[in-house]
Amino acid sequence: MKNWKRYTITAALPYANGPIHIGHLAGCYLPADIYVRYLRSQKRDTFFVCGSDEHGVPITIKARKEGITPQQVVDKYHNMMNNSFAEFGISFDAYGRTSSKIHHQTASDFFKVMFEKNCFEERETEQYYDENAQQFLADRYITGTCPNCGNEHAYGDQCEKCGTSLSPTDLINPKSVLSGAPPVKKLTKNWFLPLNKLQPKIEKYLEQHSDWKTNVYGQCKSWLQSGDGLQPRSMTRDLDWGIPVPVEGAEGKVLYVWFDAPIGYISNTIEHFGNDSDWQKWWKDADTRLVHFIGKDNIVFHCIIFPAMLMEHGDFITADNVPANEFLNLEGDKLSTSRNWAVWLHEYLEEFPGKQDVLRYTLCANMPETKDNDFTWKDFQTKNNSELVAILGNLVNRVLVLTDKYFEGKVPHAGTCTDLQNFILQQKEKVEKSLEEFRFREALHEVMNIARHGNKLLTEKEPWKLIKTDKDATGIVLYDCLQIIANIALIAEPFLPFTSQKLFTMLNLIDNNLSWKNIGEMEILKSNHQLNKANLLFDKIEDDVIEVQVAKLKRAESNISTALPISTENAVQKIAAAQPEIVFDDFAKIDLRVGTILSAEKIEKADKLLKLTVDLGFETRTIVSGIAQHFKPEDLPGTQVCVVANLAPRKLRGIESKGMILMAEDENGKLIFIVPKEKITNGSEVR
Ligand code: 2FM
Ligand code: ZN
Repeated sequence: MKNWKRYTITAALPYANGPIHIGHLAGCYLPADIYVRYLRSQKRDTFFVCGSDEHGVPITIKARKEGITPQQVVDKYHNMMNNSFAEFGISFDAYGRTSSKIHHQTASDFFKVMFEKNCFEERETEQYYDENAQQFLADRYITGTCPNCGNEHAYGDQCEKCGTSLSPTDLINPKSVLSGAPPVKKLTKNWFLPLNKLQPKIEKYLEQHSDWKTNVYGQCKSWLQSGDGLQPRSMTRDLDWGIPVPVEGAEGKVLYVWFDAPIGYISNTIEHFGNDSDWQKWWKDADTRLVHFIGKDNIVFHCIIFPAMLMEHGDFITADNVPANEFLNLEGDKLSTSRNWAVWLHEYLEEFPGKQDVLRYTLCANMPETKDNDFTWKDFQTKNNSELVAILGNLVNRVLVLTDKYFEGKVPHAGTCTDLQNFILQQKEKVEKSLEEFRFREALHEVMNIARHGNKLLTEKEPWKLIKTDKDATGIVLYDCLQIIANIALIAEPFLPFTSQKLFTMLNLIDNNLSWKNIGEMEILKSNHQLNKANLLFDKIEDDVIEVQVAKLKRAESNISTALPISTENAVQKIAAAQPEIVFDDFAKIDLRVGTILSAEKIEKADKLLKLTVDLGFETRTIVSGIAQHFKPEDLPGTQVCVVANLAPRKLRGIESKGMILMAEDENGKLIFIVPKEKITNGSEVR
């Protein structure tokens, strides 16, 4: 293996037209962050760069839909993504944006260098044009009837109803979304990268990297071998949102978004270091290892087109590896922004405060490394309860509590722990090998095996019994377990950085100088070192918390609106689809009554629930209701409500709830009580 001097690690620039979801995280941001944290812990010189991809047609479409400018769209999502990445612990060294001045300059210069070296072929091709709007139309700007399913609102590149890939000529009755007029074909000049001529160079490059992940290498091979091989691709577009093409005769044209976006890795580096020469070693020195983390839909751009651009330009290094992941699905279905079938990072962070590592753990354990994989809320709960709580949390809690109880929280005297040391060193080697080869799931599993080993030691030695006969022997067991925990704090840091910090605090090792090289040492904690009090690392996630998330997805599913012409989409409210028909007898089974809320109180550790006491006329009930984020408890007594009175009792957070309050929910998720229009006797029936 080459002895690299430094590492430039990139993570795909996300489009700034929507928030980040778990598919993005599992696809590239989480693996990139784990890898970077691992490199840093080994004191390898590393630069981790990302930023928002702010050009391209989807952004202009979003702006039209929302009635705002493309700049407003990208400003909103750039900030949102930047904040949620930071809160989730994705530790970029630089997070820039492609609408920045420095990026425009860098991409423009890059194009000019290639232009002057005659790297492009000028070609005239026929493109769709809207004569009313006097504008060329990107495929997305053309709608019509899908030849496959008859959906009248299919786009020129895809029918969102049946998922078929289309080209504008496939559409029946094509129309411009700008004016509604049928598009006409018109000649236009653009600058093409002759990938057909560059194919031998690309083939050679790929041959030098036959060690890439098989899913990546295989996809590249099939691009090269399909049909007539690589085809010329236009690096400019007839659009008005993007970086102006910096050559004469190109007025009204911009750089192709896939030309400018990857240059964003370079310009964001330049911006970070200030425009002196410090940035250059990260992009120009042959001893720098460049690694691109991406999702599988970006493979061709990072393994073929961007390397071709870099080689043609001539000043830059090319990627040494591109460990692309496959896709993550959600509850068995493809993640989809337009269908709102997603777990959004910003919502997760709000709804699960302090639980970043639970999601990091679940996504890493399920990472779609070699094939598509599925995220389910049930599995999220199991990973938390049966692994993080039961294995890691349990080990740490037991050891710290026992050390506090028997040794006043001081590290006992050392034992002989060669076997343990060998075990940890062997685990360290396994984790290193897995991470070097981008097998993150396997690496995490080996980290958890260290915690499993600790629990086994406790179960075998039973220090809580041993203390009655042999305090020294008890001390040895706890000493060993404490060293295990200190080693876990180090080795788990790339995966679970928040947990690792908490462990260092509990172990009183904050501001330590420890790093990867200390893993395997058996006196990270010296005898007599004073520990801090134990805090719970993870807490159990109850069924009702998971049910809320599943219900939220179901609501999203029933809110799906089919693709509509852009101009009218904004005016249509999202209304849930009708439920299947029921017979009157089914309805008659529901005992609906009017009641009055007598009191309302918050429930500890349940952000969404209120405990209500409701007078139903014939009895007073306790009802737990998920309305805490919508109402203050003190405002509720005296409110008359409608209650489902014969619902089987359910335990929520240990409280028996007898019944359900009827609420209406508006399109923004706001809850409103269904109340009788006039005051009425409690217990009155609702029919
Ligand atoms: O697929 C995407 O989300 C693209 N915005 C990724 C761009 S990666 C790089 F080339 F900038
Ligand atoms: Zn269709």
